[in-house]
Amino acid sequence: MMNNQLSIFAELQDTPTQAVVNVASVPQRSPFRYPGGKTWLIPTVRKWLQQEAGTVKLIEPFAGGGIVSLTAAFENLADPIVMVEKDEEVAAVWEVILNGQNQWLAEKIYSFDLTHENATAELNKADKQLQDIAFCTILKNRIFHGGILAKGSGLIKNGEKGKGIASRWYPKTLYDRIRAINHVKDKIRFIAGDAFTEIEQRLKDKEAYFFIDPPYTVAGRRLYTHFEIDHERLFDLTSQIQGRYMLTYDDTPEIRAWADKYKLLYRTIPMKTTHHLEKNEIIISDNFEWWE
Ligand SMILES: C[S@@+](CC[C@H](N)C(=O)[O-])C[C@H]1O[C@@H](n2cnc3c(N)ncnc32)[C@H](O)[C@@H]1O
Repeated sequence: MMNNQLSIFAELQDTPTQAVVNVASVPQRSPFRYPGGKTWLIPTVRKWLQQEAGTVKLIEPFAGGGIVSLTAAFENLADPIVMVEKDEEVAAVWEVILNGQNQWLAEKIYSFDLTHENATAELNKADKQLQDIAFCTILKNRIFHGGILAKGSGLIKNGEKGKGIASRWYPKTLYDRIRAINHVKDKIRFIAGDAFTEIEQRLKDKEAYFFIDPPYTVAGRRLYTHFEIDHERLFDLTSQIQGRYMLTYDDTPEIRAWADKYKLLYRTIPMKTTHHLEKNEIIISDNFEWWE
C-alpha cells in the first residue's frame, strides 16, 4: 500500500537540483551544537524567506538550536520571529539569552574554569535557578558526546586531539555569540511550549512563515529527550496552514506516503551527515516557485 502510493511522485520529484552546501560558508550564530542542526539548509532557507518582497513574520515551532530564527534575525529577513521549544533545558537557555540574563550567562561561561571536578559540581548542584539550568545545558551540550542532552548520553572522554572534555569548550566564541544575540533579541519572542499548540493557533494567519523541523522518525529517539511526536498529525496540520511553510524530514517511504496522503508538495535535497555520508532529506512546501 505505502509503496504504491509513493511510486509516481517519488520518481517525478526525486532529482536533487542543488549541490551539497559547504557548512563553513554559513555563519554560526547559535550557542548550541545541535544534533540534526539545520546550518546546512540555511542557503535554501534564505531563498524561501525572500520569495516575497519585505520582511516576513517567522515561526519556528521546533526551535532546538534556533539557527533559522537567528539567521533570519541577523540578516533582517524576518521580524517578528517566534521560537517554540518543549525541552525544558533547551528552553531555559533561550529564556535566559532572550529575556534578561544574557550578560550573566555569557560571563558565567567565559569565566568558568572547566575541569572534570568543576563540571561535575556544577551539574550536581541542588535547587537550580533558571539561569543555572541554562548554564548546565550549555555545559552538557559542549562536554557530552555529540552534544546530546538526552538520557544515556555521557561525558566526552578523549575529545579532539586528546583534549578531553575541553575539546568543544570555546568560551570566547560562546560569549561572543550570546552577546551578539542581545542585539537582535527584540525581534524574537520565545515560547517554552508545544509546537502543535502554537501551529494550531496560527493556521489561519496568511502572513506567517512556518519553518518546521521536527525530531525525525529514525534518529530522533537517540538524539532528543522529546522525540515522540505524532508525525501524521503534523502533516495534517501542515496541510491546513494558510500562510507559507517549509517542513523538513528524512527521506523515508513513510514520510513520502504521508506527504502524498495530505497532498503536500515536496522536493529532495542532498546533505552530508556528521559522519560525512551523503543522504537526501525531504523539503515540503506550499509552493516551489522560490526553489530554482
Ligand atoms: C530536529 S530538532 C530542531 C533542530 C533545529 N532546526 C536546529 O537547526 O537547531 C527538533 C527539536 O524539537 C523539539 N521538540 C520535540 N517535540 C516538541 C514539541 N512537541 N514542541 C516543541 N518542541 C519540540 C526537540 O526538543 C528538538 O529540540
